[in-house]
Amino acid sequence: MINTSELIWQDQQHQVLFELIDEIKAAHVDSTTFARLNDYAEHHFLMEEAYMKELGYPEYDSHLSAHNKFRTELQRMIDEHDCYDAGLREMLSAFLSEWLKRHIFGVDKKLEEYILNSERK
Ligand SMILES: [Fe+2]
Ligand SMILES: [Fe+2]
Repeated sequence: MINTSELIWQDQQHQVLFELIDEIKAAHVDSTTFARLNDYAEHHFLMEEAYMKELGYPEYDSHLSAHNKFRTELQRMIDEHDCYDAGLREMLSAFLSEWLKRHIFGVDKKLEEYILNSERK
């Protein structure tokens, strides 16, 4: 099942997002940015969702719907933008910074605590 070393995955994967945000802020947005962001989010979300399911996480539904909201919003931005101008960069970096604050430093931390506590049982 779950062991402590596996817990590092969550922080390591969030680090990938920090790097993407830095890149976007530094004006390096091109056609690969959305694709990488999308791949990253999908891979990471599926992993968190699998952990929540396996452990019977009580806040699974609300956490899943937060992930789904991110998925929908990202897809909307991809559909609506075919050029990579300053406006898009600002919107994307505001969106991701908000996500960091509210999700990664909020509900993801809660999930991490839950995982740590359940492995002590
Ligand atoms: Fe999450
Ligand atoms: Fe996460």
